[in-house]
Amino acid sequence: ELNLKESLFRLNKAVMGFYFDELKQSKQGEKARIYLEKRGISKDIIQQFKLGFSPDNWESIVNLLKKRKIPKKVAVQCGLVLERKQNNGYYDRFRNRIMFPIFDVNMQVAGFGGRVMDDAMPKYMNSPETPVYIKSRILYGLHAAKQFCRQEGFVYIVEGYFDFLSLYQHGIKNTVASLGTALTSDHVRILKGYASKMVLVFDSDAAGINAAKRSIEIFMKEGVDTRVLVLPEGNDPDSYIVKHGQDAFNDLALKAKTVMQFLLKVSIDTHGLSVEGRIRILDDMKQHLSLIQDSALRSLYVKELAETLNIDEKAVLEKVREQYLKQN
Ligand code: CTP
Ligand code: MN
Ligand code: MN
Ligand code: MN
Ligand code: MN
Repeated sequence: ELNLKESLFRLNKAVMGFYFDELKQSKQGEKARIYLEKRGISKDIIQQFKLGFSPDNWESIVNLLKKRKIPKKVAVQCGLVLERKQNNGYYDRFRNRIMFPIFDVNMQVAGFGGRVMDDAMPKYMNSPETPVYIKSRILYGLHAAKQFCRQEGFVYIVEGYFDFLSLYQHGIKNTVASLGTALTSDHVRILKGYASKMVLVFDSDAAGINAAKRSIEIFMKEGVDTRVLVLPEGNDPDSYIVKHGQDAFNDLALKAKTVMQFLLKVSIDTHGLSVEGRIRILDDMKQHLSLIQDSALRSLYVKELAETLNIDEKAVLEKVREQYLKQN
């Protein structure tokens, strides 16, 4: 098992080097170089995060494996090649994509993500789960961000590769990306080793808001001081900072919402403030409030909610209690 992991890391590293050279030097790589330039990604960032290009070819990696006499078993486990149907050989998983190596916290290459350069589907492809790529535990960029998370005392959590890279390039280096997967309690516990406060900066669209809501439950269970930075609708951290710059981003960050403020805003946006709407909002919020561990904090939020909804505080408290008893 130890040997297998070692072989998987070594293979990933060799393949990263191949993709990196293809991006830098190959004729085909020209369109990838242009794509990254258009998206504003600097040469330094390409170099530091070893971005690459997988050529439009079915057997680039298959041939690399042959040359290096790498056992088929390792290559398939690594997720870099797939078996052809009817048992006649192998083909490359990643073709004609911008490649993002995914490092673990010790800077070993755990897996890859690949993006198309046009509107083709799927937009991203990723390595499968392997003995070295455990998605519930890996955060993109943590190997580079960890020292800055310690310095700043907090960490921004974004969804995507470009979100991470753009923020980093603009000097906001205490950031990691969840890569679109649901955050797990393992992720949160790992981050707690570097910073005590966390700021969610998810895409300002329906998918991002839902992902934020799901993540918040995990943060609350882990008792982490969490804020939510809400971007203007239709933006993600990458598009926002490319358009408005670092200072504008930092200004927004100062106005990051508490978890309860965020959940309340989402609920008000959903239900409105009519009498019926306010009852629905109370129904949404009692759920969240009943998860707050600290009783003083809980009572402050109950008070705030009662004021916002113009409902008697005792009635709100009663609802939260009912909910708490139902859950425990
Ligand atoms: N993702 C994925 N597979 C998809 C779509 C998304 O794995 N089909 C992951 C990627 O890690 C992606 C993240 O979810 O970076 C966020 O998705 P999305 O917001 O759709 O993409 P962006 O990161 O904004 O990518 P881009 O700016 O290049 O469109
Ligand atoms: Mn999105
Ligand atoms: Mn984006
Ligand atoms: Mn996005
Ligand atoms: Mn609701």
